[in-house]
Amino acid sequence: MQIFLDTADVALLKAGIATGLIDGVTTNPSLIAKSGRDFKAVIAEICGFFDGSVSAEVAAVDAPTMIAEGRELAKIAPNVTVKIPLTRDGLIATKILVDEGKAVNVTLCFSAVQALLAAKAGATYISPFIGRLDDMGMRGMELIEEIRAIYDIHDFGTKILAASIRTPDHVRDAAIAGADCATLPVSVFEALYKHPLTEKGLEQFLKDWAGTGQSIL
Ligand code: E4P
Repeated sequence: MQIFLDTADVALLKAGIATGLIDGVTTNPSLIAKSGRDFKAVIAEICGFFDGSVSAEVAAVDAPTMIAEGRELAKIAPNVTVKIPLTRDGLIATKILVDEGKAVNVTLCFSAVQALLAAKAGATYISPFIGRLDDMGMRGMELIEEIRAIYDIHDFGTKILAASIRTPDHVRDAAIAGADCATLPVSVFEALYKHPLTEKGLEQFLKDWAGTGQSIL
């Protein structure tokens, strides 16, 4: 499963990407607002040091303007993925941009039939929002399972990009459910490799090693 980072904070992104484990980046208008920076400048900066998929979201709600914005965003760098909300107009814009050869991430997906339409429109990625469904008292992960089944039965190539991830358990469950990718806040990514027994075990190993008086180098 590919791991994307869900942030527009360039310093945090650079630190995460330095692990060599990051396959893509997602941003959204809220994350851009949080960064306090110029949208296109941030996307250009990220694409300057990272060549994986970088999702940049349109701000329009009508198809013609979404298409124009998508074309503008795609001009920033070849690895920009145009992010489009899952609305009727968004699906129209998706089809046209995909037909032009642009990568499109269809976002704000909350149902399996929405995901079916995004796949029919040729979306490169579909972003089901797990955490926001959980917040409503629903089981967000069921949506990943349903989309996986539909895409496999009907042989759709759209990649499932699990989004609105809040915990390491979400990452585990999305991987088990067959998500192709998951986009994580940096805090969740940093929590993935940590385990108290790893820390405890390492502490003991280091203590015992020091007692040997040996060195490897
Ligand atoms: C990513 O593409 C989404 O915009 C993001 O994961 C949404 O996460 P949130 O529900 O925590 O805002």
